[in-house]
Amino acid sequence: MDKLLIQGGTALSGEVAISGAKNAALPILCASLLTAEPLHFTNVPRLKDISTMMRLLGDMGVGVTLDGIDGLVLDGGGLNNPVASYEMVKTMRAAILVLGPLVARGGEARVSLPGGCAIGARPVDQHIKGLQAMGAEITVEQGYVHAKATRLRGARICTDMVTVTGTENLMMAACLADGETIIENAAREPEVVDLANCLVSMGARISGAGTAVIRIQGVDQLHGATHAIMPDRIETGTYLCAAAATGGDVRLLKTSAAYLDAVVDKLMDAGCEITVERDAIRLVAPPRLKAVSLRTAPYPAFPTDMQAQFMAINCIADGVATIRETIFENRFMHANELARLGADIQIEGSNAIVRGVDHLEGATVMATDLRASASLVIAGLVARGETLIDRIYHLDRGYEHIEEKLSKLGALVRRVH
Ligand code: UD1
Repeated sequence: MDKLLIQGGTALSGEVAISGAKNAALPILCASLLTAEPLHFTNVPRLKDISTMMRLLGDMGVGVTLDGIDGLVLDGGGLNNPVASYEMVKTMRAAILVLGPLVARGGEARVSLPGGCAIGARPVDQHIKGLQAMGAEITVEQGYVHAKATRLRGARICTDMVTVTGTENLMMAACLADGETIIENAAREPEVVDLANCLVSMGARISGAGTAVIRIQGVDQLHGATHAIMPDRIETGTYLCAAAATGGDVRLLKTSAAYLDAVVDKLMDAGCEITVERDAIRLVAPPRLKAVSLRTAPYPAFPTDMQAQFMAINCIADGVATIRETIFENRFMHANELARLGADIQIEGSNAIVRGVDHLEGATVMATDLRASASLVIAGLVARGETLIDRIYHLDRGYEHIEEKLSKLGALVRRVH
């Protein structure tokens, strides 16, 4: 199993390009199940989760062709096997995103339940409830969701909580339903908007994406299209935190601060100077960061996917920060690992109290989930001496070429096999 070896203590500096967004690409790839015509994508990040999704779609009969460094063509003309096995779904929960499109286009889907995962129970009851409201007959047997419908019909759906993939699944299904669907309490995440833009270019009739109420007028069929995946706001935020923690000066290219207000505000509160350009962001860190408290919540509030990275920067900041996690019930596993590097963190239910220390010391630590791994990389970059991060397959699920990108910014980091 690969590990990452980091020699801490170098301030990051220079420029690096941000990749396409994993969480936008995953649902957008599933849109290929909605049409028999090819979809051409650019800015697709080459990540483990993306290749898992390509394999899953390929198993279902979708033609998958890589095109250059970041291009991809998906052809849903040969769709013949509407099944997502446990083997696929257990490694990537986002595989549940095939459910809505499959039942909408082919009238049938058999998709494994994701089961538990490291950061909490994460049920899919809202995805199921919404499809039932659209007339799908759903049974859950032997760990599989089996959905059937002759044609879905438009419905008014109000989800019990804001769910990102739930909104995306239902929005995709509604595109081919008979009549109008209204999704209330919809997720407003920019990735939902990117998916809606792609669906509209395929002929879907959607309004309100990016607000809490999305309206979809069903159409009989969708057609082929070309779509560029939006930049990854979480990768962008992670590199900004790495620069902030190391006292660095970096310029991130091919990205936008437009979807990062909550993160940029916190970095400025921590004392960083941030310059926003049209397609780039520059961060200059202060000699020592100030502690910043935060509370995670659905977009446009502070993203849960940036919580671990901010815990890392608070570990070496001046002062005490309280971090409150409101989305997932078990998302503080990085705290114990950060403590191995000398951090002072106290967990009280869904609050973490982080007391900044003067410095961290390198140690061997273990990545427990994707964003937790990112927090360990940031801490390792600041720590004195060597940090060895085990189980970095989590990191490879969501960060493209991480060691090349960090090395380009001057970090001393290498992968060991
Ligand atoms: C997506 C993101 C993930 C991010 C999360 C929250 C993708 C591929 N993943 O995950 O990176 O951390 O949003 O921003 O886009 N819930 C239910 N029942 C449901 C659905 C959700 O109880 O049917 C709960 C979840 O357990 C969680 C909360 O709702 O507590 C939000 O989850 P959700 O927004 O669905 O997360 P994902 O879409 O899985």
